[in-house]
Parts: sequence; C-alpha cells; structure tokens
Amino acid sequence: MRATAAVFEKLFAPFAVADVEIDSPGPGEVLVQIVATGVCHTDAITRDGDLPFPPPGVLGHEGAGIVAAVGDGVSNVAAGDKVVIGWPWCGQCRNCQEGQPRYCGSLGQLVAGGSRPDGSTALRRADGSPLHSHFFGQSSFATYSLCAASSLVPVAADAPVAILGPLACGIGTGAGAVLNVLRPFVGASIVIYGAGAVGLSAVMAARLTGATTIVAVDKLASRLRLARELGATETIDVSASASASASGAAASAASAAGADPVAAVHEICGGPADFSLECTGVIDVVRQAADSVGMRGTCALIGGAPAGASFSLDHMSTLWGKRVIGTLGGEGGSVSLIGALIDLNKQGRFPYDKLITPFPLSSVNEALEASRAGEVIKPVLRMG
Ligand SMILES: NC(=O)c1ccc[n+]([C@@H]2O[C@H](COP(=O)([O-])OP(=O)(O)OC[C@H]3O[C@@H](n4cnc5c(N)ncnc54)[C@H](O)[C@@H]3O)[C@@H](O)[C@H]2O)c1
Ligand SMILES: [Zn+2]
Ligand SMILES: [Zn+2]
Repeated sequence: MRATAAVFEKLFAPFAVADVEIDSPGPGEVLVQIVATGVCHTDAITRDGDLPFPPPGVLGHEGAGIVAAVGDGVSNVAAGDKVVIGWPWCGQCRNCQEGQPRYCGSLGQLVAGGSRPDGSTALRRADGSPLHSHFFGQSSFATYSLCAASSLVPVAADAPVAILGPLACGIGTGAGAVLNVLRPFVGASIVIYGAGAVGLSAVMAARLTGATTIVAVDKLASRLRLARELGATETIDVSASASASASGAAASAASAAGADPVAAVHEICGGPADFSLECTGVIDVVRQAADSVGMRGTCALIGGAPAGASFSLDHMSTLWGKRVIGTLGGEGGSVSLIGALIDLNKQGRFPYDKLITPFPLSSVNEALEASRAGEVIKPVLRMG
C-alpha cells in the first residue's frame, strides 16, 4: 500500500519526503499506522555514517501508532490497538532467552541491516525500486511501519500515543540506565553528563530513587535549568562562557561552573561520585565520566560516538574496583520498561512530556537541525 516517508537518500544529505510503497504484513508481522515518531540523536549519526544502515532507505526508531493490519499467527495485538514499537529482538539467542533482548545476538542486523532477517525489504519507491527498511526493526519516519509483532508494546486505549514513541529509545534509555542498570542505593550520588533527552530522562529517573545527590553536567545553561526543575540537585556548566564568568570566583557547590567537571564533581560530592552516566556522545567526555567515580563506583556509557572512536582510562584507579560498562536501550524488556514509564508519567512522577516539541513529518530536516542546535530537546514528528 501507499505511505509517505522521509527517505534517507545518501550520507549527510537532507531527508526527502516522498510517496513509497509498503508491504502488507506477512506471518508474525504487523502494519502500524504511525501517529508520531521521535527523532533521536542516533538517527542523525546514522545519516552521517556512524551506524552502517545502507541508504537509500527510511530511518526512524521511536514510532507509536495504531495497528492497521496483522499477519498470520499474530496474537499479541489486533487491528485498532494502540502500540509503541520497541526494539527488535530474535527471541532465540542466549541473551534473548535470558531476558536481555537489548543484547540480542542479532542486534546489528536487526537495527541496521536495512531489511528483514531474511534480507527482504518492506519498502519500495513509487517506481518500484527497493528502499532499505527495518531500521531498528521499524523505519518509522513514515506514515506506516511494518514490524515484527514481537517488538510491539500494546498500550491502553486512552494512552497519549502521540508522545509515547520516544519511550522506546531516547527516553527509555536514560531512565532504564538508572532504574535497570545502575540502581542507585539510598544516599548515593550520581553524575549525569549531557542534559539532552537521554540525560534528562536519567535525571528524572534518579529522582525516583534514593539517590540524594543528582548532578547534571552540560554546556547549555537552559538545559541545566530544566535539569534542576526535573530533579537535579546540582549542576555543572562546562561552556566556555561559564568558565570565563567563573574565573576569579570560587565555584559554588550548588552551581559549579568551569572547564573541569571532574574537579567540580569531587567538590560537590566531597570525593568521587558513586555513579556516573555518559549521555553526550562526545568521546572525550567518557574519560570525565569514568574519572568522576572512584573505588566500587560505576560509570555507564550510553552516548553514541563516531564510528571507530576509542578512549583510554587511568589504569590504577580503574583497577581499584571501578566498573565502566556500556548499556543499550535502558536494558530489560520493552513491555515492562515502557509500561512502567507510561504509568509514572500519568502519575506526574516522570514528566518527560516537557521535553517534547512536535513537528510535521514534512519538517523532518528542521527537526534534526533544531535538535542539533540545542533549540529543542526531543523533536517528535506527527503524521496527522
Ligand atoms: N546506548 C543507547 O542505547 C542509546 C540510546 C539512545 C541514544 N543514545 C545516544 O545517547 C546520546 C544522547 O542522546 P540525546 O538524544 O540525549 O542527545 P542530545 O544531543 O539531545 O544531548 C546531548 C547533550 O550533551 C551536551 N553536551 C555536549 N558536549 C558536552 C560536554 N563536553 N560536556 C557536557 N555536556 C555536553 C549537549 O549540550 C546536549 O545537551 C547520543 O549520543 C545518542 O546517540 C544511545
Ligand atoms: Zn536474540
Ligand atoms: Zn535512539
């Protein structure tokens, strides 16, 4: 059937909105009419070649909408159901079977292979030439998405579907890294580098725990102000202007400013922090996040750096009981994480909707640019 999509024509180029053809659902597949889909930094780095999804094709991996049709054998959803499209997983490999579908052994193919696992693509141009599909199993920068039923999270009929898509990646990743991975203990200190969609979600999640010191680090004062509203107890501004204005004045523990966030963290926490999260995607920040925690501290890496990036650590301070771990998608399963975050949002305890700015699909390039420029935090493309 006919759909409209933002086509990723070639590396670094703007997306081109066009009519496309999308397959009907085969066995185990579901056709979802997308209501809205979030724009994640990972879409931008894929367009710029840092994830090997092959153009031409369709990106987008924070889709939510309404089930339009189901294929044979699908029993978890039916036409008319509201759904969030979660990350794909094979269900067969050891990690999937042990309840860690984010680390599915087939993840690379499933998120960036550009096709179904059998190599077929679900999308074509109006002239019949193939377009790569199934980015993160969904390619949801489009009015319709064809995905595996196993990746879907059914939600209540009254759920606000237009804002739910980002729970599947950016928002869920930041929150899940705190709630599923780090699990701060009562009285803990946690430092979050990067107050974008992922980092601010981590801040909101940290406020739901017993952590008593929640430090947000960014170079944008507006984001640090929002971080405070959302639960940060301290902020560190690493912008050049903050460094300049702080020169000669002692950085206060409540609003430390300057170029050395690690020293500021140590000052705020009275030593190293217990936990840190790297949510900037800037490779140099990895070392800062790792140096922010000490013995038995844990530094979790989330940010997606350029392809081939590497980092180094101080050997001795890492050897002395420090853990530096990578984490994907907030870990756990989509149904439990997304379901909990929807409930917490409804209760007013996880107000991630404050991060969202809607754009029409036709403004996809403007949405990416506004995000890159720091003007909006979580752009969401609305189809209607
Ligand atoms: N691991 C995963 O599963 C996963 C999932 C989603 C997103 N990501 C990645 O997480 C990262 C964050 O995503 P986002 O959507 O929040 O991006 P974003 O661009 O909205 O946020 C990044 C923030 O980092 C800040 N920043 C930049 N340089 C900094 C520095 N030197 N020190 C402190 N702060 C700095 C920016 O001002 C911005 O506020 C991206 O790299 C994205 O690709 C990873
Ligand atoms: Zn698997
Ligand atoms: Zn993402």
